[in-house]
Amino acid sequence: MNPFAGKNIIVGITGSIAAYKAAEIASVLTKAGANVQPVLTPAGEKFITPLTLQSVTGNHASVDNDLWTGEHHVAHITLGHDADLIMITPASANFMGKVACGLGDSLLALTILASHCPVLIAPAMDGDMYANAATQANVELLRERGFHFVGPAQGHLASGLTGVGRMSEPTEIIAAARYILSRDNSLKGKKIIVTAGGTREAIDPVRYIGNRSSGKQGLALAQAAQDSGADVILIKTPALTEKLYGAENIEVVSAEEMCNAVFSNLPDVDGVLMVAAVADYKPQITAEEKIKKTGKRMTLQLEATTDILYEIGENRNRFPKLKVLGGFAAESEDLLNNAKAKLKKKHLDFIFANDISSNESGFESEQNKGFLIDRSGIMREVSLSSKQKIAEEIVTELVKLFSE
Ligand code: CTP
Repeated sequence: MNPFAGKNIIVGITGSIAAYKAAEIASVLTKAGANVQPVLTPAGEKFITPLTLQSVTGNHASVDNDLWTGEHHVAHITLGHDADLIMITPASANFMGKVACGLGDSLLALTILASHCPVLIAPAMDGDMYANAATQANVELLRERGFHFVGPAQGHLASGLTGVGRMSEPTEIIAAARYILSRDNSLKGKKIIVTAGGTREAIDPVRYIGNRSSGKQGLALAQAAQDSGADVILIKTPALTEKLYGAENIEVVSAEEMCNAVFSNLPDVDGVLMVAAVADYKPQITAEEKIKKTGKRMTLQLEATTDILYEIGENRNRFPKLKVLGGFAAESEDLLNNAKAKLKKKHLDFIFANDISSNESGFESEQNKGFLIDRSGIMREVSLSSKQKIAEEIVTELVKLFSE
């Protein structure tokens, strides 16, 4: 499920001060299980040494000299052919211009010419250079030819000015690479809604009724589904500030907004995974102005919200594309019986019975534990593990359900 595992990734470095960030990118990719081959252009070598890249990847960092020494036989062809992904981090205006023109005046440019794999470009340059009509035309041409781009971002530039031209942060570049590498996996072509986080039901413009859900398990599941090739729609509440790169991220606040977002996307999706902690009740009236204290006892009238998962389950026949419906049961007592009852009542294909009684798992925690239960009542216990591990277990079940 890890899209980087065993992948040959070329990290190409061209002439820009952002080259120093390439070492971090190469290091993270290596630790994630990729075989990273650094390739530096002569201008790239002026900003960062091959030795640095070699040290963090454990591989020879190729430079133009390798083209002529004969030590690495037709280096560009071998590198280009073997690569699963080529990343240009950073890509200077000059280098993008050369690639757009099909020039091969460096080992890196030749490697791209000889490759068949996706190429991810992270431009880095001064704002005026990026805005220049020639650069823009080159970017456009490369996009049309199927090159992938991440950034550039707006921010402080080496010139001292601020503008668009700054290389994206390594985390974003790595997320873009992860997305590209995951596209051909087992859930390819499957569109899946994942909901995450606790909803907030407004009492007045300042206060709300909320819950402790952080959205971490939902995000981990969305990431695992995407890593397996799915197209993910992540419907999330403010509890989760992170967005999932590559997914359609939809922000909602209340249970009603979440319900609307889920149902408006429902006809197009193959699966729904309701991980969000949706409020069961909301204030009958939301005050328009901030409620003033009176010092006296106050009563809040609540009314039931829609049970989104139940409504989907009850109406499954109206959504022929929908094959898999999964939920989470947050239980503090009688875990299995409660979860099984929810699975049945809501017409689910599976439910993850989440034990929230202990401090080490569940809400706000980095870990979780519970039981994965399918329609036939078969259970798989998942012992205390990271939310990512739990997500991977659930996605394995998902792949199985789609193949049935
Ligand atoms: N759920 C939902 N809409 C709601 C409440 C819950 O879609 N209004 C979904 C949750 O996302 C979860 C599943 O239903 O996948 C079970 O949620 P949970 O809070 O465990 O159970 P409830 O059905 O709300 O029942 P109770 O609170 O009584 O345990």
